[in-house]
Amino acid sequence: MKVDWVALGNFRSYDTLEWEPDPGVNLLLGANGAGKTNLLEAIAYLSTLRSFRSAPDSGLIRDGGGAALVRAGVSSGDRRRLIEVELPLSGPRRAQLDKSGLQKTADLLGVIRVIAFLPEDLDLVKRGPAYRRDLLDAVAVQLWAAAHHDQTELDRALRQRNAFLKSGLRDDATLSVWDARLAQSGGRVMSRRARVIATLAPHLATAYADVAGGSERAAIGYVASWGGEIAPDATAAEFTTSIQEALERSRRADYERRLTTVGPHRDEPVLLLDDVDTRTHGSQGEQRTMALAVKLAAHRAVADMTGEPPVLLLDDVFSELDADRSAALAKTLPLDTQTVITSARPEDVPVEGAVWRVGDGRVWRVGDGPGVPGVEGAVGR
Ligand SMILES: Nc1ncnc2c1ncn2[C@@H]1O[C@H](COP(=O)(O)OP(=O)(O)O)[C@@H](O)[C@H]1O
Ligand SMILES: [Mg+2]
Repeated sequence: MKVDWVALGNFRSYDTLEWEPDPGVNLLLGANGAGKTNLLEAIAYLSTLRSFRSAPDSGLIRDGGGAALVRAGVSSGDRRRLIEVELPLSGPRRAQLDKSGLQKTADLLGVIRVIAFLPEDLDLVKRGPAYRRDLLDAVAVQLWAAAHHDQTELDRALRQRNAFLKSGLRDDATLSVWDARLAQSGGRVMSRRARVIATLAPHLATAYADVAGGSERAAIGYVASWGGEIAPDATAAEFTTSIQEALERSRRADYERRLTTVGPHRDEPVLLLDDVDTRTHGSQGEQRTMALAVKLAAHRAVADMTGEPPVLLLDDVFSELDADRSAALAKTLPLDTQTVITSARPEDVPVEGAVWRVGDGRVWRVGDGPGVPGVEGAVGR
């Protein structure tokens, strides 16, 4: 899968921009604040329909500008498609695919697949479980477009159930209605998480070995909020039943605490190194290697499942890594994948590719690197 070109209007710091990335590796160099992450964010938005910085859509519209527009020509094998998303100043966003309007913007999901890696993703292991759940859900959206709908439904059911509990009313009949909705969408979300884990697991083991070069065995597991591992091959209906039962068991506690204490929103994906939780027992270095390995595994898993490598976006990642891990990551990067790497310090990126400069709201090609005159050394002003 490739982005042939991308065009922005009123997106973040960009007034207008057109960029035709190389089909291989692209190095985007520019000073801090130049707009490198903004450009990656726009590309990722077309894939996930949300900001990878968790910004609301309104934050993506250029300050003082009109509606934001993100357009891209993408290709998958021989097939070329045109994606257009408009974020108006008010009202819902609009999307078109090949010039025809879509009923639901979610119909764009799957047209272009992206795996993005941000500096904060290096903290994937040590952060709270929500972060690891989001990772599984994000991979699920790349694999199954319907996953987005179920995740949204689950969030909504949870918010409504919590709002009811907050009210302090104790009414089992009403609560049962929210239980059923939460369990329905939650069962589908959980079954997809289980499938993502099963798909990811073998890739995680090899990706960890590739980056770390040692003999430790990396694995991924999942502990349900009501305790215990989950059966990896359980169906959505079976997960729904389990959630339903857990909600009923915790009803008294939920009334007391006025919130939903069990459910897929409280589950814990765990990352293991030789069967030990990396979060509690791993060194800082092991945790970061694990985080890299998880993302690389996600890329390989989606490539495997869809038959095509997703676009890989690495935002400012190399400058966060020590020399050994940088070299290992550079060596591990997939060769068949369109990749965009940003950095303010080209000397930190031991990777060759098309070299672009970003600054003053523009992107221009300066050659093929590394070692291009004018780009060695820190890019400052
Ligand atoms: N909605 C917006 N409107 C205008 N400028 C914005 C908006 N959002 C972010 N910016 C600007 O974008 C710049 C940061 O761009 P970014 O892509 O994060 O830089 P970097 O090259 O360091 O990754 C900042 O100067 C910020 O003020
Ligand atoms: Mg940045």
